[in-house]
Amino acid sequence: MSINPSSAGAPLTPSGVSLPKVTMPALGEMKRQGKPISALTAYDYPTARLVDEAGVDLILVGDSLAMVVLGHGNTLAVTVDEMLHHTRAVRRAVRRALVVADMPFGSYHGAIADAVANAVRFVKEAGAEAVKIEGPRVELVRAITEAEIPVIGHLGLTPQSVNRLGGYRVQARTADAVLELQADAFALVRAGAGAIVLEGVPREAAGQITAALSVPTIGIGAGPDCDGQILVFHDLVNLTFAPAAKFVRRYADASGFFRSAIERYREDVEHHAFPSDAESYHLPVQQAKGTAGSEVDFDSDDAVVNRDAFEDWAS
Ligand code: KIV
Repeated sequence: MSINPSSAGAPLTPSGVSLPKVTMPALGEMKRQGKPISALTAYDYPTARLVDEAGVDLILVGDSLAMVVLGHGNTLAVTVDEMLHHTRAVRRAVRRALVVADMPFGSYHGAIADAVANAVRFVKEAGAEAVKIEGPRVELVRAITEAEIPVIGHLGLTPQSVNRLGGYRVQARTADAVLELQADAFALVRAGAGAIVLEGVPREAAGQITAALSVPTIGIGAGPDCDGQILVFHDLVNLTFAPAAKFVRRYADASGFFRSAIERYREDVEHHAFPSDAESYHLPVQQAKGTAGSEVDFDSDDAVVNRDAFEDWAS
């Protein structure tokens, strides 16, 4: 299966103004113009659609899906096939934002040719417009870039290194470590990386690297001086069942919202309060009165529920 993202056409604002598609070069232009880049993760059609329609510039199908969607304790277990499945769902929803697929643990840790082949799958089979790779893997970034796939680097706290790091700890806490981080960022950019995610590093380190780099930095737990910010969708809306990290700001309480709706539904069912008569289908009047032989007219408004949605889904 191959998907052509451009076939969706340019999206419109409520006032009818067409918004240009976000591309990797466009992110660089935003940095040059001093325009902050907004980024969020998404893993499925409805949330990706909401994120895109809200005007967020970049949507990352992050391997954090292993934790926040699939319920694993870390990001290591998610597979290429699972990431492809979710990237396809996001791709179907997004018209404007840049769609970036996270390459999962194990998909780029062996031979470079195998890693490039995996990156190609994200573009060809799922419609990703860029891939993200953790760590200072300079030769790999060069090879993927040479295969015409834009790459976003990811430095600092790299969750796929959790076993080597011994936990999720803030990185680059000494002057030497900041210099090393900056050298890694420069090397990735020289190899072709179009942006760098900086995760879990001191604000000062992120600010210094952001000022020095020609491509945008996108921070998560890296302070306000990056060119852009990214958060995990489920953190933003409180859908993680865990206390939030210091760098997370919760903009909504989806857990409370859903919990209350589900509990009210259960209570209504238990009290025979759902469905009501108005939420039920009815035989045509003559049938209800016992007229034998005539067929129920399923074209009546009564029988047609969200048929367009069904046909979209069925096609
Ligand atoms: O997987 C992820 O969600 C990430 C982040 C940068 C948020 O890599």
